[in-house]
Amino acid sequence: MKHEAYIRGLGYYAPEKILTNADLEKIVETSDEWITSRTGIKERHIAAPGEAVSDMTAEAARRALADAGMDADELTHIFLYTVTPDYYTPSAACLVEEKLGIKGKVVQDVNAACSGYIYGLEMARAVLALHPEAKVLVAAAEVLTSRTNWADRRTCVLFGDAAAAAIISAGDPRPGDGRIVDVLLASDGSLGHLLTIKGGGSGHPYKLGDTVDEDYFLFMNGREVFKHAVRNMTTVCEELVAKNGLDIDAIDLFIPHQANLRIMEAVAKKLALPEEKVVSTIARFGNTSASTVGIALAETKAEGRLSPGCRVLFGVFGGGFTWGSALVQF
Ligand code: UT7
Repeated sequence: MKHEAYIRGLGYYAPEKILTNADLEKIVETSDEWITSRTGIKERHIAAPGEAVSDMTAEAARRALADAGMDADELTHIFLYTVTPDYYTPSAACLVEEKLGIKGKVVQDVNAACSGYIYGLEMARAVLALHPEAKVLVAAAEVLTSRTNWADRRTCVLFGDAAAAAIISAGDPRPGDGRIVDVLLASDGSLGHLLTIKGGGSGHPYKLGDTVDEDYFLFMNGREVFKHAVRNMTTVCEELVAKNGLDIDAIDLFIPHQANLRIMEAVAKKLALPEEKVVSTIARFGNTSASTVGIALAETKAEGRLSPGCRVLFGVFGGGFTWGSALVQF
């Protein structure tokens, strides 16, 4: 018997502090004009000193639980997608469990870079196929500014900090719930070097007394990543729509990973999706890695744009490389 997975509640959290393009003009040689025209970003939220991934995720989770009408203790699983956990160990998911005041759940951190939220939808579906009574928190959170090289204008203008959460379970749908119709995921590890944070890992360890150098921070070959992002997001979305016997006109809203407005527009154009169907939050948040699509979905719900029957298509791409697409019907 197939158990359908439903998104019951959504939430996100973005730190209070906002860094504008004008603020960045004071840090590196850049301009509001360059950042806006090349990326679509106007401002991004920045974590407060000491504000970690687990803090932001716990708050996003509380909001998603409230939206779902559930208590934290009802959760059975916590999957936290992040590349910037609080520590190597314990996992940030364990810290979230503690901050939610619960114990004994199945909790883990997972790294699928910017594709994490959509990878998480598939993992929740898989768990629910085995354990139909499960109640899964899928969260995606990043304090990317903790690994930002503030001397590198090619990357430091792009990223922001935020967390997004979704509560997923099986059983009967209620009004406003989103059925996860299908998910397609992919990866190509041979291209990982184009977007990487090396320093401190077991492949690139630091010794006591070493000075932290630029290897400790995010490196990206932007032009190459751009090309792969457009190509792979387009292809995986086309495949998912075709696999489900749909025409692209059957898609009501498109939520692409928010890394660059030009990438989002290029993918939408290749998919023949009109501008009004594309959800864009990039101007206010920048690239918050895996949480971008979760923020956009939560905002879309809060704005009342998810009318009954509405089909939402997601396309994501990130480090690894990883990419994927999901179809959710409300
Ligand atoms: O989330 C994971 C996936 N990430 C992505 O999908 C990001 C993909 N890549 C991109 O979004 C874009 O490649 C960037 C936004 C990172 C860069 O845009 P671009 O149009 O590809 O610029 P570019 O790297 O080709 O650089 C063009 C010029 C260069 O100057 P020259 O060599 O032509 O004189 C750069 O030095 O722009 C210069 N530049 C800047 N100028 C002002 C690069 N960054 C900046 C900056 N301000 N912040």
